[in-house]
Amino acid sequence: MDHTGLRAIHHCRLVDERLATSGQPSEAQLGLIAQAGYETIINLALHDDPRYSLPDEAGSVAALNMRYVHIPVAFRAPKREDLLRFFDAMDAHIGRKLWVHCAANYRVSAFLGLYNALRLGQPPERAFALMREIWQPDATWQQFIDEQLLAGYYARRAAEYDQVYRKPERQAGLRQLEAALPALFDGRRVLEVACGTGWWTPHGAARARHWLATDLNPETMAVARSKPMPACVEFRTADAYTLAEVAHETFDAAFAGCWWSHVPLSRLPGWLDTLHARLAPGARVVMLDNRYIEGNSTPIARHDDEGNGYQLRRLADGSTHEVLKNYPSVEHARALLGARAARVQWTDFPHYWLLDYTLA
Ligand SMILES: C[S@@+](CC[C@H](N)C(=O)[O-])C[C@H]1O[C@@H](n2cnc3c(N)ncnc32)[C@H](O)[C@@H]1O
Repeated sequence: MDHTGLRAIHHCRLVDERLATSGQPSEAQLGLIAQAGYETIINLALHDDPRYSLPDEAGSVAALNMRYVHIPVAFRAPKREDLLRFFDAMDAHIGRKLWVHCAANYRVSAFLGLYNALRLGQPPERAFALMREIWQPDATWQQFIDEQLLAGYYARRAAEYDQVYRKPERQAGLRQLEAALPALFDGRRVLEVACGTGWWTPHGAARARHWLATDLNPETMAVARSKPMPACVEFRTADAYTLAEVAHETFDAAFAGCWWSHVPLSRLPGWLDTLHARLAPGARVVMLDNRYIEGNSTPIARHDDEGNGYQLRRLADGSTHEVLKNYPSVEHARALLGARAARVQWTDFPHYWLLDYTLA
């Protein structure tokens, strides 16, 4: 079949026999898409700008006997819910001829890159190759992509995550840390950020008054919920970067295990401010995370321009993921906390560091 007409659609990419992506097609171009046998149109653009959208795309698509799925993604503020709806729509139409468009194939190529990486398990280079042909994401989109890649990696890893805590060489240090945690939160109302599979939760919560364990991923929290926990533990989905889901509560302590290392350097000050805003003055904050142990830790494969390190990690399903991982020094942590923290203590354990401070 001659695809010349289809290829003329703004930023059109015919990905394979069944999947095509593009910017906004005109009414006439929708007709060509239908003639070429496409069954479903997914549109990620908004309907509200006549410069970029058709007067009634839903009606035009229906008149051509195609199915129309509209997932409006605000270009300046892409959301995780949008991405998850897109993933579901892609999964629901797999095997059918599908045309996915937005205004200029920016939103679509970024979402498709995330789908390729997180649902299909493609390595990052391949997953985002189409996007890079079309555009280089701006700061908003790069941050969105990075956040989703990290969260998606941990969702995929949930079932095998606890293997890291079964490494023989870590056992002695883990027992030391587990023994140290209960006294740090004695009688406190604690917010745990990025609790994951809840490895530290029962130890930290052992003597707490209330412990709210939060994470972005239902997959990791499902593992945590399946474990025996002290009665004071409650679980809730929350994004560590906004903590919007706990906006109306205050706590007199916070805990984050193995989260600091995944926060891009440029986002650490803002993230600390967000966390501290949920805490009462004088609250206790405890973070622990990995130390870099030569020959034991996964090597850093590259650094980006702002100095963040990235590791290449492989999961049991064979997928490879590039994961941001930093190894802060005590000096860096102290400098960053500055006047925000009092009584700062940093303790090195064999494979982990523990930071304990009081909110000034
Ligand atoms: C390295 S794991 C740490 C899990 C656990 N605290 C531990 O130490 O074993 C990082 C966790 O961050 C979660 N996560 C990723 N992005 C997040 C976000 N934006 N907000 C909250 N949690 C997030 C992942 O689901 C994962 O459970």
